[in-house]
Amino acid sequence: MPYTIEKVKELVREYPGFPSEGILFRDIFPIFHHPEAVECLINHFVELIKALNKQVDVIVGLDARGFLFGPLIAIKLGVSFVPVRKRGKLPGQLVSVTYMKEYGPDVFEMQADGIKAGQNVVIVDDLLATGGSCKAAEDLVAQMKGNVILNTFVISLVGLEGDKKLKAPVYALIKC
Ligand code: PRP
Ligand code: ADE
Repeated sequence: MPYTIEKVKELVREYPGFPSEGILFRDIFPIFHHPEAVECLINHFVELIKALNKQVDVIVGLDARGFLFGPLIAIKLGVSFVPVRKRGKLPGQLVSVTYMKEYGPDVFEMQADGIKAGQNVVIVDDLLATGGSCKAAEDLVAQMKGNVILNTFVISLVGLEGDKKLKAPVYALIKC
């Protein structure tokens, strides 16, 4: 069945009280039960990025759910994909940044040859909450002298105002 982007949005499931009380967890994995829904979602992001009318050199995806979308978008745009990973998962020369998670500090890393000075970058992740993760990714790109031109998410939890922490513009398909 061909999907519209409105039908794709309906596939996101809500789980009250997961992983802890008071959290309403938004689960994007049901989208991946339907290949045509994934295709529709990826095309949506690809068209959005093309409409910027700017050269895009690198798609950066955040560990782990950003890896579901980032490489698919990068392939369609014909540009490279570079992962931001949690500490200790990447070999070689790295850049790193400490950022705040709910229960304390964590570290994000990126391989130092992933982005060249002056390259334009789009960051991709499933969800924007407090913005701490994406801000850390923006910092890593800045350390490598790249330019983040857009941050993209499937979902933004607007009440948490994560966008206010970010330097580059934010696009979210679902704002809730
Ligand atoms: C989730 C989500 C985002 C981040 C958003 O990832 O996928 O990356 O939290 O939160 P923030 O805006 O408050 O930083 P998580 O760190 O839980 O990792 P996972 O993708 O490995 O589950
Ligand atoms: N990451 C941070 N907050 C989340 C939420 N409410 N649902 C899914 N992933 C999240």
